[in-house]
Amino acid sequence: MKPRNYAPLLAQFAEEHAKRSPKSATLHERASKYMIDGGSNTLRLLNPFSPRIVSAKGAWVQDEDGHRILDFWQGHHANVLGHNPDFVTRALAEFFSAGQGLQTGFTDRLQIEVAEMICRQTGAERVRFTTTGTLATMNAIILSRAFTGRDLIMKVGGGWHGGHPWGLKGVGYHGGFEAMDSAGVPASVNENTIITNYNNSDKLKDHFRQYRDKLACFIVEPVIGAGGLMPAKKEYLQAARELTQKYGVVLIFDEVISGFRFRAGNVAALYGVQPDLMTLGKAIGGGMPVAAVAGRADILSWAGKGGKVKFDGGTYAAHPASLLAGKTYMHYLIAHEAEIYPKLYATGTKLREVVTRIFAEENIYARFAGDRNRDLPGNSMHMLLFPYQEGGELDTPEEVRNPAACDMMLSEKVLQLELLLENIFTVHGLGSNSAAHTEADLQFLGEACRRFARRVKSYL
Ligand SMILES: Cc1ncc(COP(=O)(O)O)c(C=O)c1O
Repeated sequence: MKPRNYAPLLAQFAEEHAKRSPKSATLHERASKYMIDGGSNTLRLLNPFSPRIVSAKGAWVQDEDGHRILDFWQGHHANVLGHNPDFVTRALAEFFSAGQGLQTGFTDRLQIEVAEMICRQTGAERVRFTTTGTLATMNAIILSRAFTGRDLIMKVGGGWHGGHPWGLKGVGYHGGFEAMDSAGVPASVNENTIITNYNNSDKLKDHFRQYRDKLACFIVEPVIGAGGLMPAKKEYLQAARELTQKYGVVLIFDEVISGFRFRAGNVAALYGVQPDLMTLGKAIGGGMPVAAVAGRADILSWAGKGGKVKFDGGTYAAHPASLLAGKTYMHYLIAHEAEIYPKLYATGTKLREVVTRIFAEENIYARFAGDRNRDLPGNSMHMLLFPYQEGGELDTPEEVRNPAACDMMLSEKVLQLELLLENIFTVHGLGSNSAAHTEADLQFLGEACRRFARRVKSYL
């Protein structure tokens, strides 16, 4: 395959972007004087600079230069109902206007109500709150190591569980899924972190046979985020459950991205597989920082009085305003489950249909990662791919994040910058639709994809 050279096209798009977004460009310069790369999360920062957002509502955001932008990033996939739903901002405004909402450090009624809600909707026995998905997965791993008295942990190549030492191996940011993705991590963490393959039950069995009762836990996303925004196969999760039981290994489902996105609870329930621990974040906070480890009481009790694990949520854990937002949001998702989830599914299905049809009409082969999975239909998260060859399952990170198989430069960089010129923000190939995205929004996306296709065609 002859390498495609997008450099001139990217330079042209960057120039157009700078011309139409002078205020964001100026703010980027100012930001870069005080923050690394002008922000706090490199993945969120576009090249040459990101639009600086002034307001956000539903499916749309508005930037400093007055562009209304259709957003498929949606708060890093947290906002399943779109940005700033009125019922949440209203509840928070009332809370604050009553002089409440900031951290007190005391245990209040809200914590109990949210914990009850999570247990009821996920089958967990106990919950401990923290502030980020990263802290939740890190503590779930520490709990499992203490509970089993074992050192090794296993995760999948391409899985992102946040930026803590164990989570930083095998994400694939630096090519390959076996590598440590960050400098500065102790060598022992590298040695103790085993990488297996997502959606590959044979490899999983081999790894369990090899490491057996040395493994403390297997942590896996039932719907993988960074590795493809695509669902696991049912038989894979079932195999994970059987093997962890057989070898006395703690099964952790990382549902930071999938929890409350596919139903008003954990997605694992749709697979009929219950883990020992699950981690939740993103949607359970309703746009505020709430995360949790939930699951078996006998494991979580290791974090309690007399337990040996130091897992305290942190100064701002179980923050009143965050929990109020989370409670209000989850309550709404539960009460409207019958409308919201079918709508998310239908919009996601339509989005894929529109986008792939338009690229086909323009003679460009486009697919979505995991599009042949029938075990969890109706995904509202979408990694758009431009495979070099037709066919293939495209249901593992090894396939969908392989630059020799899919044109990742086209789907991640060229598409992102060109669609921004069309007032559309995409990430990871496309991103997620919320329940606020309408049929008209999808038509807007489709027309932009057509113009994109026509602009890039001669470079393919
Ligand atoms: C599956 C998964 N786990 C953990 C995390 C880390 O969560 P946070 O960014 O809240 O620390 C993320 C974040 O994207 C995630 O997608």
